[in-house]
Amino acid sequence: MPDVAVLVGSLRSGSVNRQLADNVARIAGDRLTLRQVPLGDLPMYDHDLWDDTPEAVTAFKEQVGGADAILLVTPEYNRYFPPVIKNAIDWGSKPMGANVWTGKPAAAIGATPGQLGAMSAVLSATQLLTIVGCAVMAQPSVFFNHRDDMHDSDGVLTDESAREFLSGWVDSFAAWIERMS
Ligand code: FNR
Repeated sequence: MPDVAVLVGSLRSGSVNRQLADNVARIAGDRLTLRQVPLGDLPMYDHDLWDDTPEAVTAFKEQVGGADAILLVTPEYNRYFPPVIKNAIDWGSKPMGANVWTGKPAAAIGATPGQLGAMSAVLSATQLLTIVGCAVMAQPSVFFNHRDDMHDSDGVLTDESAREFLSGWVDSFAAWIERMS
């Protein structure tokens, strides 16, 4: 089963994007293993830090580098992906010759209570993944318009049409990973 490193671009405990990542993992079942890689311990990118590489950076690069594929789950902040995502992508792309993203099958999805479903953030994150060398699946898209009433009190997605849609997306991503690997 392909092992997917999941990068959630929100640090807050009640994140709807983490909830989406958890729900995609549940729905994926035995089609994909989705493993969330923490981003909150990464320092802000500073090239001087490579002289004495922070533990969190080494751990991050190992976890991402060892994965078969990458999934970004991004909030939308002012019509863009948040700095947590850019910081993680920048760390993974350096130093020269040690870019962990090169050739990795990848996708970006996102959630917001806003009606446009984080579309703008997802599209910019998709472009970012392309720039660092991932083999990005751009379609089908997940622009998830989060509503609490689509979930139970534990955050489990109960809305049947949303579950079916995400299940179809999992099929597409699994096929994409196989094709690109
Ligand atoms: C937002 N939010 C937001 N939502 C949206 O649909 N489009 C936007 O451009 C923005 N802009 C924005 C800027 C900033 C600084 C914040 C903090 C929030 C709302 C945002 O989507 C909402 O807070 C989500 O719940 C954030 O995702 P997590 O943290 O719940 O995963």
